[in-house]
Amino acid sequence: MEGLEIRRMEEGDIAEVMSIERVSFKQPWKREFMEAELRNPSSTPLVVLKDGKVVGYMILWDLGDSVHLANIAVKPEMRRKGIGRALLRKAIALARERGKKLLSLEVRKSNTAARKLYEGEGFRVLRTIRGYYRPDFEDALLYVLPLQGNVKSEKP
Ligand SMILES: CC(C)(COP(=O)(O)OP(=O)(O)OC[C@H]1O[C@@H](n2cnc3c(N)ncnc32)[C@H](O)[C@@H]1OP(=O)(O)O)[C@@H](O)C(=O)NCCC(=O)NCCS
Repeated sequence: MEGLEIRRMEEGDIAEVMSIERVSFKQPWKREFMEAELRNPSSTPLVVLKDGKVVGYMILWDLGDSVHLANIAVKPEMRRKGIGRALLRKAIALARERGKKLLSLEVRKSNTAARKLYEGEGFRVLRTIRGYYRPDFEDALLYVLPLQGNVKSEKP
């Protein structure tokens, strides 16, 4: 999609991010939780803008030699236009730039839209995590994307 901008999430984006979060998940993050991401040194909270308006977001956590995609959502009326894919490709690019070995994420087994997106970008199921999600104890699938050639030793 033309005219997309991806940048770091700021305090002023939180209201729009939360309105997308609330319509996107059975158990949305609390506002305080989302706000805390702006201060979390291990987190990279990003928003995607179309014509200057927030239409989606993504939270990445730096976990040693991997990056974990902790949250991703696109505004419902803007879905199926390639925005989710643009965010995911940004996550992959950032993880590669940082020399990470792996990108991981969890997803509800029933979330066909998200699973198709991840599988289309090369993610594969590593394992099932039984009863992971609240309130219904749906299973999670742990997806991983190995980032070959990214072997970086940790500095002491
Ligand atoms: C998952 C989500 C982020 C995808 O965002 P999106 O912008 O609609 O995704 P894209 O348009 O980039 O889709 C990329 C590909 O994913 C797959 N896909 C996306 N939505 C799909 C759907 N509803 N049904 C089937 N496949 C789908 C398709 O393969 C699609 O490629 P195509 O349109 O060329 O066929 C969005 O559906 C969303 O916000 N869902 C609610 C929140 C959520 O479930 N987040 C994931 C938590 S793990």
